[in-house]
Amino acid sequence: MPEPLRAAVIGLGSMGANHARVLSDTPGVELVAVADADPERVNKAIGGRPIPGFPDAATLLRETRPAMVSIVVPTQLHEAVALEAIAAGANVLVEKPIAASLPAAARIARAAEAAGVLLTVGHIERFNPAISELKRRLDEGQGGPVLQLRARRVGPFPHRIRDVGVIHDLGPHDIDIMRYLLGDEIERVYAESRSHIATGNEDLFAGFVDFRGGAMGLLDINWLTPMKERSLTVLCERGMFLVDYAAQSLAFYENYAAAAREGSYASVTEGPMTRYPIANREPLRVELEAFRDAVASGGPAPVSAHDGMAALAVAEALVRSGKTGMPVAVEEVAAAP
Ligand SMILES: NC(=O)c1ccc[n+]([C@@H]2O[C@H](COP(=O)([O-])OP(=O)(O)OC[C@H]3O[C@@H](n4cnc5c(N)ncnc54)[C@H](O)[C@@H]3O)[C@@H](O)[C@H]2O)c1
Repeated sequence: MPEPLRAAVIGLGSMGANHARVLSDTPGVELVAVADADPERVNKAIGGRPIPGFPDAATLLRETRPAMVSIVVPTQLHEAVALEAIAAGANVLVEKPIAASLPAAARIARAAEAAGVLLTVGHIERFNPAISELKRRLDEGQGGPVLQLRARRVGPFPHRIRDVGVIHDLGPHDIDIMRYLLGDEIERVYAESRSHIATGNEDLFAGFVDFRGGAMGLLDINWLTPMKERSLTVLCERGMFLVDYAAQSLAFYENYAAAAREGSYASVTEGPMTRYPIANREPLRVELEAFRDAVASGGPAPVSAHDGMAALAVAEALVRSGKTGMPVAVEEVAAAP
């Protein structure tokens, strides 16, 4: 039996506490240290177990030399903490978005490459079992060509998040899932955004994204809705998939006319709906197991730095479009951030 991988978590807030919980009982992993600037959060994450807790990343890295580190500090601090962890030789999972800006993300990616360590990004929705099943069905060609993807991710304002707006905080989830499902890149975006809660950042947002291959994406994302919804529809020529992320459910609404006419897209009529059985699992657990396996095998990052930067570039293009009221080419943002 190989030795368990020495894991650590830096940042033990609402998401980091979950990383610590999951890594505590992940086979093949030993949680050897946690750190947070807030000692109460350190104590809570340790929960009386003999795991050393630290007030900062530098001390944790120096004293415990972990092989894999989850970086779950506020987004503005991703770069500083990721660079420290990489310099200490750790393999790194940095929460989404990869960084607060594209230049910062590029510095993290270059440092990881130069140090020869694995860098992955916490685009957790890829590990939702309903998305894995949808990806499998789309790759098999069920539904035929994709015409449109529509993501809705709404809920109440999280008062702890002050460093970025809703596009950077929640947008990367849906941008990443759309790119992942289609295996295609977004070329151009247009957005309308508003700021109603006085943080200086946008909290209400509607965006449109155009894929190179012709599919269109709609993003309906905000922090102003008094109920949580996280859903995705993928409209194809031969039917429409519907995912509810929280319920981990996947349904397919068949376009009966297309099915009856053997592939021709002459018309649309309502056909039968099928709900697929999904074996539910906690997406964070699946994500951290994939991180563990990649570190153990020296394999590719489950979600690459390129993926993290591509999602961030689209988010930045959407922010720019929301401010200017003009469509923005993603290439412009990526080339001159
Ligand atoms: N993948 C997901 O679904 C998901 C969900 C929530 C948050 N996140 C991401 O996780 C990150 C953290 O978000 P959160 O909601 O947990 O925020 P949070 O504010 O609840 O937690 C951040 C924690 O970092 C600690 N911290 C701040 N500076 C530090 C430092 N220099 N060293 C050590 N600890 C420090 C804070 O004390 C706090 O406990 C963000 O990047 C966010 O985008 C991802």
